[in-house]
Amino acid sequence: PSPPGTGFWLFGYGSLIWKPPPHYDARLPGYIEGYVRRFWQASEDHRGTPAAPGRVVTLIDRAHYAGLVDPHPEPADSLVWGAAYHIPAEHDAFVREYLDIREVNGYTIQYTDFHPSPSPTPNPAPIRTLVYIGLPSNPQFVGPQEPDALARHILRSMGPSGENREYLFELYAALEGLGPESGDGHVKDLVRRAGMLEGRGREEEQD
Ligand code: BEZ
Repeated sequence: PSPPGTGFWLFGYGSLIWKPPPHYDARLPGYIEGYVRRFWQASEDHRGTPAAPGRVVTLIDRAHYAGLVDPHPEPADSLVWGAAYHIPAEHDAFVREYLDIREVNGYTIQYTDFHPSPSPTPNPAPIRTLVYIGLPSNPQFVGPQEPDALARHILRSMGPSGENREYLFELYAALEGLGPESGDGHVKDLVRRAGMLEGRGREEEQD
């Protein structure tokens, strides 16, 4: 990691993709390896409340993931796509503080290699990035979730940042928009399930 005060690169794999941090001077689409993105983190402060927490994404280390039973039918994607932001030196302290406040709800700082998207420039050099991860040891980590129950949970949750479903749909759209291969199987599957559940809900209302 770069010493505080000298600027840093930040990798966003959740809301940071469509809600950038303040004061960045570069944004690159790309991916990291060695993790699996899952909606397995409770949100009491953004997309839910302490009494009714919503669900947001976290990253699970591959080695840890291998020991879990994931009820999601498709195999986990091998890459986690997102966006890396360069925070310039003069805004380093401010942005670190902003992120600490924004991300207090169970996330821990880690560093990992980020690979900028190979299009349009092939073979770009990896960049060391800071990333916020809701580790399995944090109290907000809820572990494997049955996919339909998870989609239903997202549909009914909301918090100070808005509806939980909006987070899911924004994440889906932002991921699809990053590059030709940036879509995420888990996120796409939840969007499909949420759509089916909503359709069914509407039909029941009309009956
Ligand atoms: C992210 O977008 O990377 C992120 C946002 C909030 C908490 C943790 C990660």
